[in-house]
Amino acid sequence: MNFQNSKIKNFLTKLSMQKLAIIGCGIMGSAILEALLREKVFPPSRISAIDADEKKLAKLKKKFGVKVAKNATEAVEKADVILLAVKPQNLASVCQNWKTEKLVISILAGAPIANLQKATGSQKIARAMPNTPAKIGAGISGWFASKNVSKTEKILVRKILASFGKEVELRNEKMLNTVTAISGSGPAYFFVFAEALEKVARKFGLGKLAPIFVRQTFLGAAKLAEAAKISFSELRKNVTSKGGTTEAALKVFEKKKFGKIVEIAAKAAKKRSEKLKN
Ligand SMILES: NC(=O)c1ccc[n+]([C@@H]2O[C@H](COP(=O)([O-])OP(=O)(O)OC[C@H]3O[C@@H](n4cnc5c(N)ncnc54)[C@H](OP(=O)(O)O)[C@@H]3O)[C@@H](O)[C@H]2O)c1
Repeated sequence: MNFQNSKIKNFLTKLSMQKLAIIGCGIMGSAILEALLREKVFPPSRISAIDADEKKLAKLKKKFGVKVAKNATEAVEKADVILLAVKPQNLASVCQNWKTEKLVISILAGAPIANLQKATGSQKIARAMPNTPAKIGAGISGWFASKNVSKTEKILVRKILASFGKEVELRNEKMLNTVTAISGSGPAYFFVFAEALEKVARKFGLGKLAPIFVRQTFLGAAKLAEAAKISFSELRKNVTSKGGTTEAALKVFEKKKFGKIVEIAAKAAKKRSEKLKN
């Protein structure tokens, strides 16, 4: 989306005058809060952070100068837009006594729009699935909004999600289960592979150097993939010479059906996401 267009710019200036309540300031909620301030989507005076943990709130207030509150219901009444970032199992208890028609953006894994509408009372729901690289502004969020969310409200959804990475509006809500299994859980697949490689590197005698070699290899490979703009398959072929060391390792991956393992694992994540109806 081109946020430079002057009409949109004016509109976004008006939007930044709105008040946002972030309900749940754990790993994701606080990462989003930080990104919104860093990207100047909202000034600190327009953001309320709500969490069950008072110590966490005190830290956020000191660090960012945002408003803080323990009571979500009261904060929702004062806000124009609500961002829900509690654990799915806390949804019902958090939303008790809400009577709101405001835009609610939810990042809860597995919570369908119908359930979010029932829990919050609002018909205007944008359901998003971000991932943890959001913490450094390098996340990706797939999202889908209920039909009552207007075009202008969708621009605000995009602006909020774009503050911590890429955002992609999906064709239907079901696609969120796939996005959860691919990019939501994806960073953990990457880390489990890094962990395994580090373990092997130690076993082979690299000792303290093991995490240094693994970290830089993964970082370099990710940067190369971004810069080279060729397929992953091409990138792999570029490191694999005939009869060489990489080919020897890749043959083992193939024999042990690495691709199938990844498929079965992602399927399990997708199935779990489909079942997680709160
Ligand atoms: N982490 C990920 O990779 C990821 C990716 C995509 C989506 N998500 C979704 O993001 C949501 C948050 O995940 P997270 O990893 O950030 O969880 P988290 O770190 O546990 O954060 C949730 C926060 O909500 C607070 N909370 C609990 N009950 C509350 C209440 N009644 N009112 C206000 N705040 C309350 C918790 O406080 P206490 O700690 O004191 O209980 C905690 O600070 C989840 O629904 C998850 O499905 C997570």
